[in-house]
Amino acid sequence: MAEMLPAQMRYARGLVAPAALITLGVAAIHFSVAPDHLEEYLPFGVLFLVTGFAQAVLAPTLLVRPSRLAIAATALIAIGCIAIFVASRTVGLPVGPSEKDISIQGSDPVTILLQLLTSSGLTGVIASFLELISFLLLCLALLLGPRAVAHPRRWLSWTLPAALPIVALTLVAVECALNPLPVAINMSTAQAGAGTPMSQLVASPGTQPVESFVLTAEPTVVRGRQEWTYNGLVPGPELRVKQGERIHVTLVNHLPASTTIHWHGYPLPNAEDGVAGLTQDAVKPGQSYSYDFVATIPGTYWYHSHQDTEHQVPMGLYGALVVEPATPNPYDIDRAVIIGDADAANAALHIDAAPGQRVRLRVISAYGEDMTGDPEVLTLLGAPYRIVAIDGHDLNGPTELGPERLLLDTGQRYDIAFTMPADGEVRLADNRKRTGSRPIRSEWVDLGSGARPEMPERLPTFDLTHYGTPAPDPIADAASFDVSEDLTISNQVGFRYGSYEFVHMFNGKSFPDTPVILVHEGDRVRLRFINLTDEYHPIHLHGHIMSVVSRNGFRIAGSPVHLDSILVGPHETWEVAFLADNPGLWMIHCHILVHAAYGLSAMVSYQGIWTPYTIGTASGNFPE
Ligand code: C2O
Ligand code: CU
Repeated sequence: MAEMLPAQMRYARGLVAPAALITLGVAAIHFSVAPDHLEEYLPFGVLFLVTGFAQAVLAPTLLVRPSRLAIAATALIAIGCIAIFVASRTVGLPVGPSEKDISIQGSDPVTILLQLLTSSGLTGVIASFLELISFLLLCLALLLGPRAVAHPRRWLSWTLPAALPIVALTLVAVECALNPLPVAINMSTAQAGAGTPMSQLVASPGTQPVESFVLTAEPTVVRGRQEWTYNGLVPGPELRVKQGERIHVTLVNHLPASTTIHWHGYPLPNAEDGVAGLTQDAVKPGQSYSYDFVATIPGTYWYHSHQDTEHQVPMGLYGALVVEPATPNPYDIDRAVIIGDADAANAALHIDAAPGQRVRLRVISAYGEDMTGDPEVLTLLGAPYRIVAIDGHDLNGPTELGPERLLLDTGQRYDIAFTMPADGEVRLADNRKRTGSRPIRSEWVDLGSGARPEMPERLPTFDLTHYGTPAPDPIADAASFDVSEDLTISNQVGFRYGSYEFVHMFNGKSFPDTPVILVHEGDRVRLRFINLTDEYHPIHLHGHIMSVVSRNGFRIAGSPVHLDSILVGPHETWEVAFLADNPGLWMIHCHILVHAAYGLSAMVSYQGIWTPYTIGTASGNFPE
């Protein structure tokens, strides 16, 4: 340091000392992010280490004897780091891997910038915020220049109160950095080349009649709102086929982010499951991808994006998949209706229906925005009805019901059948209070015309464990199981994926550290979901059909119930069983999409399967 100031002349220590403290904190942050970057892209890792080292040396220099050179060097490093960070999150850097491509919600510039900046966690945002303050303090100190020291201890009264927030922010940033987004997680249960490659788990060639669809994912303005749509529609077009047909779907991606399509509830070959990072790479903007499977079973299903699902589904990327039985359809009116976040169109749906007509409503919940996970509260008024199927699977001997509260949570489906009365409307009301950003809707579907039925004051709640006629269910009734697992659901605030979040866990761990339920083909598997939280969790298993065994220890007493999404209410315990008859790597997760994104996701994995795909920043695949 060439410049020597007379002993009584100093740069304002009240400015320089807090900046020194920040510089020390940011050095710690840079060291904490270095290991991950070393793994991902060596030059960036080295850059973080060198910067951290320079800052670690400059900080004490500033504290002890601040020279102009040290102040200027620290300020330059700070502004340089901010510039690199902002560029990496907005326009992108000319070298190195690109960041996670995220689905931006909203249209005002501040929200967009905030989402861009926080897209890889809080660390960068906190570090840049601290460095900005340090930069401004140091510039001010340089501007004021060295001055005679009148009160040698006064700087302390500035620096001490500033120390607490600086240390706190630094700790948060370091914790976030130590719990980062994963780089490349591979869910294989066999070495590449050793077991069965997932790419072999496809539908065998056949001579079925083929139904072909093209789904173009694109941003569209629907009723004044910018949505992400399939073919310009929210919900996407209903795909309706007959049992036994072969479904061929081409996904064309015209979105600014990568995407996939998952066929929710359908027991199809693993390679067609549409899960980013597991069964495929997310389809990049401008590219396309095809799905091919056979409609082996009838029922009500739906499709949706399984890349950045938490954002892409609420933005509108979902639609109905209906497989009609091969036999003639006995209903005069057979309609799928989807409750969804982005679905302004369904706010007041009217269906023309004449007295005496037989109606089947296939009600699908795609609504997943609320943190509480509260289900829809549906009530059918104006006609006696039967619930003929749940999650696409027929119930045995369903009896006639009067008005009841039907709880339907995200991912679940009820098929409701009734005959239009001689006069008056039939109405399906939805009385859920919504806490998300979408409007509150208190009524939903009207059929026919005439007097509108009233909503009774008090209603019983439909209980699927006591409905219909008992019948043998070889899976639920099995005397023994090859695999038996308890999955305990809990939540607590903590650090995950580079942020401070309301972490959701199976058995105390969040995805991808959650348990892997390992199975062999042919295994009978029993799972017990134990909900320790005050929230609802519709737990969805890919690729399989679960039989309900018991609820809170009481065996199911009505018709056998077959599901892919089981609603586990606050502090409830549900037991299910399934036959492992579909080899592959399958997700099991809460379908409250924020819960899944906060970690409530696990795997049911067959032994000896490998996939070339990875989840994490390296591939940009984020299935939650
Ligand atoms: Cu409806 Cu894993 O999805
Ligand atoms: Cu949940």
